[in-house]
Amino acid sequence: MIRFNEQEKIFHIQTQNSSYVLCISDFNALEHLYYGKKIPDDGIKYISNRQIYAHLAHESRENRAYSAAVVGMEIAPFNSGDIRTPSVVYDYNGCVDHNRLRYQSHKIYKGRKRIEGLPHSRESEETETLEIVLSDDEKTVEFTLFYTVYASVDVIARHQKIKNNGTMSLSIQKFSSMCLDFYGMDFDTVTLEGMYLYERAQVSRAPLSRGVFKNNSLTGTSSHNRNPFIALCAHNADEDQGDAYGFNLLYSGNFAEEVSVSHLGDTRLIAGIDDTGFAWTLKAGESLSSPEAVMTYSDQGLGGMSRNFHDHIRQNIIEKQFAFMPRPIVINSWEASYFTVTEEKVLALAESAKDCGIDTVVLDDGWFRPHDRKGLGDWRTDREKFPSGIKGLSQKVHAMGLKFGIWLEPEMVNDQSDFYKENPDCILATSKLPLISRYQYILDLTRDDIVQKIADRISEELQGAEIDYIKWDFNRYATEAGSYKTPQGEVYHRQMLGAYKLLAILKERLGNVLFETCSGGGGRFDLGMLYYSPQIWTSDNTDPYARVFIQNGTSYAYPVSAISCHFTRGDCTTGRTSSYDFRYRVAAFGSYGYELDLSEYSAEDKAAFKGYSESYRKDEDLNLSGDLYRLISPETNLFYAYMKVSKDKNKAQLTFLELNASGFIESTTLRLKGLDPEKAYKNAETGEVLYGATLMNVGIRINDLYRKKREDGYTVTFYAV
Ligand code: GLA
Repeated sequence: MIRFNEQEKIFHIQTQNSSYVLCISDFNALEHLYYGKKIPDDGIKYISNRQIYAHLAHESRENRAYSAAVVGMEIAPFNSGDIRTPSVVYDYNGCVDHNRLRYQSHKIYKGRKRIEGLPHSRESEETETLEIVLSDDEKTVEFTLFYTVYASVDVIARHQKIKNNGTMSLSIQKFSSMCLDFYGMDFDTVTLEGMYLYERAQVSRAPLSRGVFKNNSLTGTSSHNRNPFIALCAHNADEDQGDAYGFNLLYSGNFAEEVSVSHLGDTRLIAGIDDTGFAWTLKAGESLSSPEAVMTYSDQGLGGMSRNFHDHIRQNIIEKQFAFMPRPIVINSWEASYFTVTEEKVLALAESAKDCGIDTVVLDDGWFRPHDRKGLGDWRTDREKFPSGIKGLSQKVHAMGLKFGIWLEPEMVNDQSDFYKENPDCILATSKLPLISRYQYILDLTRDDIVQKIADRISEELQGAEIDYIKWDFNRYATEAGSYKTPQGEVYHRQMLGAYKLLAILKERLGNVLFETCSGGGGRFDLGMLYYSPQIWTSDNTDPYARVFIQNGTSYAYPVSAISCHFTRGDCTTGRTSSYDFRYRVAAFGSYGYELDLSEYSAEDKAAFKGYSESYRKDEDLNLSGDLYRLISPETNLFYAYMKVSKDKNKAQLTFLELNASGFIESTTLRLKGLDPEKAYKNAETGEVLYGATLMNVGIRINDLYRKKREDGYTVTFYAV
C-alpha cells in the first residue's frame, strides 16, 4: 500500500510488516524519515534532525533550521550541501550547480514499468509503484525515483532514472540505484565472503564503525569473492529475532554497497553500480536507468529476512513458468569425463541414467574442443567425438526417454579460434591485448554487432537440436576492459547490458528452455542471473563437507531451489572422502543432480542413486515452495542443521549433519523451528507424535534419532496429523 498524505506531504509505503516513510521537506527536498517495522502514523516529520552548528550550509539566511547535511535523504548528490557519501555524482557541461534537487511531481499507480535492457522484479497482481520526479531549479537535470512495492513479501524494489533536459552534455561519474539513511549506527553488516571453490562460504558479520564499509566487485562479474547481497541488522539480531534489513541488486557486473557512518553517528547505505572507472555521458534528451535494488525488513532476524527474499525471488524474479516447477534431475558429463567426453560416453551415461532416477543428460564442455585452449567463439561440433552432431545426439537421448541439455559459454572467445581471427576487434581490449585467463578473452558485448554475430553462430550450430536445458558459463574476470567502439567509462555497464541482451536472444531462439547459469562454479550467483535462469551452479567444489558452508552462506540471500547441487565423487577438489548418504543429504539441500562416471558404479550403487532421486522428488515440494530455517550454523564446525517447512506447516523436514566427529553428539539437543505450535506432528521415522510447541520448546535429543552411522547425517520428516 502506498499512501500520500497531502496535508503533511508524506509518502507512506506499507508492506505487510514494514513501513517506509519519506516526505517533501519545507524546501521541496525529498527527505527520508523512517524504514522499519510497520507503523500506523504518517505524521513523523518530528524525527527529522534540525540541528544547527557551525559550518553547516542552509537553504536561506532566514531559515537555518534545515540542512541537507544532517537529515535523511532519498537521493544524495555530491556538491549539494549534503557532505556525506554521495549516491550520485554528475556535472552538467562542467558545472556543478545543478545538484540541489527539488520535488516536482509524483505518481502512484498499480503495476510497474519495465527497466529497459535490465532485469527487474516482475509485475504481479499486488504490485504498486510510487514514482517521484526531482530536478534542479532550472529543470535541467531530472531524476525519477521508482519505489515498487511487493507488500505480501515485505519487499520494496528501487531504481532511478536520470534525464538530461538541457542542451549541453551531462556527465555522470556515479549513479547508484538507491540511497537509504538511518538515524543512529547500531547495526552489524552481514556480507557473503568467499573465493573460487569457496563462494559465499563465509558469512561475515561485523559491527559498523565510523567511516565507510564497502562490499563490491571490480571483476566485471558479481564474483566468487563478494556478493551483491548485504544485510544491516541490530547487534542483538539472530536467526529468529531482531531487526534485520536485507539488500540486493539485480545486477551481475561491477557493483558496490557502501555503508557509511557520518560524523554524527548516522548510517547511510548506498547500493548500485560501482563507480570505479564509471563515466557516462548523456547528450541532450538522453536518459539512463540504474539497475534495480531490492530491500526487505524483518523483525524475525536474519532467518526472517532470508525467507522474505526467498519468497520474493521465487514469486517475482524467477520466470513464472520455472519458479515452482519440479527441476530436472540431471547427470552432467563434466566430472564424468571432462574434455574427453564423446557421443558414446554421453549415450552410456544416458543408458545408466534411467536406472538412477535421472531425467536429463547434460553434455558439458568438450563437445566442440579437445581442451580449453581453442574453439570458444566458433561453436563447431567436434564431429570426430560427436559423429551424429548435437542434433543427432539430442534425438538419440530423447528416443531413450530422457531430456537433453548442453553447455555454452557465449560471452567468451578463445584466442585460438576462427571467430577471433576473423574479428580481431571483437574482444574487450584497447591498444594492447589484455591479460589472458583460461586461454580466453571476453567478447565485446558493448557492440551490438558482436552480440548478433555470436548469437547467430550458436543458434546456427544448434539449429534443429532438441534442447531442454542450457548450462550458461562464464569463466574469467575482466581486466583492462576497454572497447574499440565504446567510451571507456561506459564499457563495464554496457557489457552487462549486452550480456543480458545475448541471454534474452538465445533464450528466445533456443525455445525458452530452462537455463542454469554458472561462472567457473558460482562466480555470478546473483539476482540478475536469476531473472534469466531459475537455478545457478553454486560451486565447482562438490566435497559435501566444504559445500555445506557454501550452500549455507548462499541461503542467506537466495532460495534453495536456485542453488544447484550435484552428487559427485566428492573428493575431486579436496581429496576428502564422504559417505553416499552424506553426499546425498548435502546435495538435496538445493536443486539436485549428479556428476559422476556412472560406468564406474555397480548395480547396487545405481539402486542407491535411484533411491536418492526418488527421495529428492518426494520432498522437492519443500525446496520449491517451503520456508528454510537455519538451526545450527556450520561455522560451529561441529554440526549443521536446518529445517524446511511447507507454507501450510503440515510437512517439515529436519536435516542434521555432523561435520567434525567430536564425541559430544550425545549431549546435543535441538529445538525445532517453523512448526505450528498448535499442530501435532508425527515423526515419520519413529512414529512418535508431539505438538509443534513441544518440538520447538523442549526440542529433540539428537542422541535418540541419530541411530544410523554418524558420518551419514540424519533426515527426519514430520507430518501434521
Ligand atoms: C566451469 C564450470 C564447470 C564446467 C567447466 C567446463 O568451471 O563451473 O562446471 O562446466 O567450466 O569448462
